[in-house]
Amino acid sequence: MTTDPHRAGGRPRVLLATYSDMPESHEDERSLSAALDELGIDSRWAVWDSPAESFETADLVVLRSTWDYTSRMKEFVDWCESVPTLANPARVVRWNSDKRYLAELAEAGVPVTPTRVVEPGDRARGDNNPELPDREFVVKPTVGAGSWGAARFLPEQRERALLHLRSLHDEGIPALVQPYQPVVDREGETALVFFGGVYSHGFVKGPLLDPADDATGSAGLGKGPFATDPAPELRRVAEDVLDATGELLGVARYEFLYARVDLVRGEDGEPMLLELELIEPRLNFLLADRAAPLRFASAVRAELARRAA
Ligand SMILES: Nc1ncnc2c1ncn2[C@@H]1O[C@H](COP(=O)(O)OP(=O)(O)O)[C@@H](O)[C@H]1O
Ligand SMILES: [Mg+2]
Repeated sequence: MTTDPHRAGGRPRVLLATYSDMPESHEDERSLSAALDELGIDSRWAVWDSPAESFETADLVVLRSTWDYTSRMKEFVDWCESVPTLANPARVVRWNSDKRYLAELAEAGVPVTPTRVVEPGDRARGDNNPELPDREFVVKPTVGAGSWGAARFLPEQRERALLHLRSLHDEGIPALVQPYQPVVDREGETALVFFGGVYSHGFVKGPLLDPADDATGSAGLGKGPFATDPAPELRRVAEDVLDATGELLGVARYEFLYARVDLVRGEDGEPMLLELELIEPRLNFLLADRAAPLRFASAVRAELARRAA
């Protein structure tokens, strides 16, 4: 650990990075500081782009709720790279910030929701007529979070879908096209949370996208989230996702201080990856058992020890 004159009584000092609209903890994470304190770690919330903060002197900077980064991706990733003790590490953030990682994981043998990437350049090359699924599908940006820019379409809504693709491309953003997984409407998606590469807890998220045939649209259809104890086959695929990601990035999976693996079942019932969140996932501590914040804090201790070694 670095010697930090600001460190109280030799206790390691951790900054939990948030954004300016929410300079203090989100209600879901209020338990984190107490859990860290119990394990001998000083922590405080800090706005990632505040010039008043000195992130370079913290023993560890943990990305938690930097939720304004998607519209300022370059600035955010540059900042990540400027922080010497960031968790998750900057190159993990960079890799995870572009959903084209799904194609890499599929290539590595992980079951992934079928995903086609449509680059802005595809149109410039004369491909004005991308092949779209013959069942309900989703068009979403490769860069984004919180369902921003994601929409569902029926095969007969091809023109609308192409307009949506074009609007993303006009912003210079490549798009992903995926068949809509109807199981999301029936049973939601399952999020599996890991700390230091070790499973902690799970929860279910309801559907988030307006139905394609509902022209009026109503946001927030989703029910949940609610706690779940994921089935063994979900647990196994989530473990496979972390192993494969570690291998792709050349890092041991315990180096992911936190990870959230979002899985859905295909029509055949088999689990598939919908999203891997290694940047600033909602972890829903309030839905988990009371020891979940302590598991997080213990993983922070392990990370501090690893960095000090
Ligand atoms: N292929 C899909 N099938 C069913 N639902 C989807 C699909 N893609 C996205 N969604 C819905 O849209 C939401 C947001 O998409 P996601 O890929 O998780 O991106 P992000 O959370 O980064 O915005 C998901 O939580 C899910 O409700
Ligand atoms: Mg998501």
